[in-house]
Amino acid sequence: TSETNFSGKKIVITAGPTREKIDPVRYITNHSSGKMGYAIAEEAVRTGAEVVLISGPVSLQAPKGVRLINVESAEEMYHAVMKEYTNAHVVIKTAAVADYRPKIIHEHKVKKQPGEQALELERTKDILYELGKEKKDQILIGFAAETEHVAEYAQIKLMKKNADMIVANNVKSDGAGFGTDTNIVTLIKRNGVSIELPLMSKKEVAVKILEEAANLLRDELQ
Ligand code: PMT
Repeated sequence: TSETNFSGKKIVITAGPTREKIDPVRYITNHSSGKMGYAIAEEAVRTGAEVVLISGPVSLQAPKGVRLINVESAEEMYHAVMKEYTNAHVVIKTAAVADYRPKIIHEHKVKKQPGEQALELERTKDILYELGKEKKDQILIGFAAETEHVAEYAQIKLMKKNADMIVANNVKSDGAGFGTDTNIVTLIKRNGVSIELPLMSKKEVAVKILEEAANLLRDELQ
């Protein structure tokens, strides 16, 4: 992104899954590898920005030049994001945050018992929604991982969460979504413009997202 210049600007990026504990040996999570978010963080460093990467548990190395904050649960991610939000210029929410967590975290390992076992879940905080509520002049970019009606659901997310752009990916398409080195995304902007991108490396997708983020920030500051 030689043209995209974010020097003097702070970009906060979330990446990876969250982990919601059941007991000391078990947890609920998802398939996010962190690759998409880490690629954005790496490219963001190249734009000259101050980059804060808030990451759930992944097995990737943090790109050089980023300030890495490791978190585990959705609740921890929420607090870390809120703390970094106030003086951020751009926030990119790539993380696959759990929507539900076990209602009770058992202090000891739950022992096997005869018969069926139910797990009671409660909602986690919707971080993107909370950010949207508090937004001043930050640019807020969310992701949407869908398996059907991708553009339609992404458009609803954009409005409901007061975001400036949603990066929608159909996680069922080959070469897109979780774990791969590539992705297929559509960038859906608030002004009704949407940009459908072909299969690209996550690095190339990152460059496109940052280009659009720079356009949005420029419009905001005008
Ligand atoms: O990590 P990789 O293996 O490279 O995979 C990349 C990816 C598929 C994880 C990524 O491209 C992606 O789609 N990330 C968003 C996944 C997701 O949780 O989507 P969602 O539609 O459930 O959430 C929508 C948005 O709300 C996301 O920006 C999410 O960060 C945010 N959210 C969701 C739940 C919650 N409690 N708080 C949130 O802020």
